[in-house]
Amino acid sequence: MLITLEGIDGSGKSTLHEALQKLLFDLEPVFTREPGATWVGDSVRRAVAEQIDPVTEATLFVADHAAHLAKVVRPSLAEGRLVISDRYSDSRYAYQSVTLQGIVPDPEGWLRAMHNGWTIIPDKTFLCVLPVDTALTRLKPDSQREHFEKRETLERVQNNYLTFARNEPSRFVIVDAMLSPVTVAKFVADAIRADWDAGKKKRKSRKK
Ligand code: TYD
Repeated sequence: MLITLEGIDGSGKSTLHEALQKLLFDLEPVFTREPGATWVGDSVRRAVAEQIDPVTEATLFVADHAAHLAKVVRPSLAEGRLVISDRYSDSRYAYQSVTLQGIVPDPEGWLRAMHNGWTIIPDKTFLCVLPVDTALTRLKPDSQREHFEKRETLERVQNNYLTFARNEPSRFVIVDAMLSPVTVAKFVADAIRADWDAGKKKRKSRKK
């Protein structure tokens, strides 16, 4: 089963990812992330830091995803493991749709076409949502921020995420990231556990 955590910078996703390691340890999940589950992530981070070019950046994020699938996600799912990824394909659809605006004709369509047919769609995606102003207060000072971490960009990124959630209500779960980290973590952990248990029952009845 593949679970992904999404949300704008400052939405508390990474704190949530860490908390889940404790709350779900008995299920022995594989905790992973994008970018950077493999060394390909180093080239992505470099391209982002240097602001080399939006298409270069987008395609490197996709390359990082391909390596992540090949080296971590596919092998783990093949072993029947629970995989929990901090960011995944929806980050590309949400962020690069903004950064590629005016550069490729239909950024979201272009990005989705690059993934369709070979990516693995998550079973469930938890989307951490909060006011952009609150997210900004949780980030580093202006001068140390990546170029994505600007108010206008994050507003558009969050709107993209919310549109995806409306379009795929059975996959997305919206999480109120204004709640305390403990409450958020417990809510998400309970939901993952319920899905995992339901999946286990299904897998057993298939074997019979
Ligand atoms: P992340 O590692 O979550 O942030 P941090 O460095 O604070 O731990 O992600 C790095 C940045 O990359 C973040 O601003 C979101 C962005 N990003 C994309 O633009 N596209 C993508 O496909 C992914 C995975 C991340």
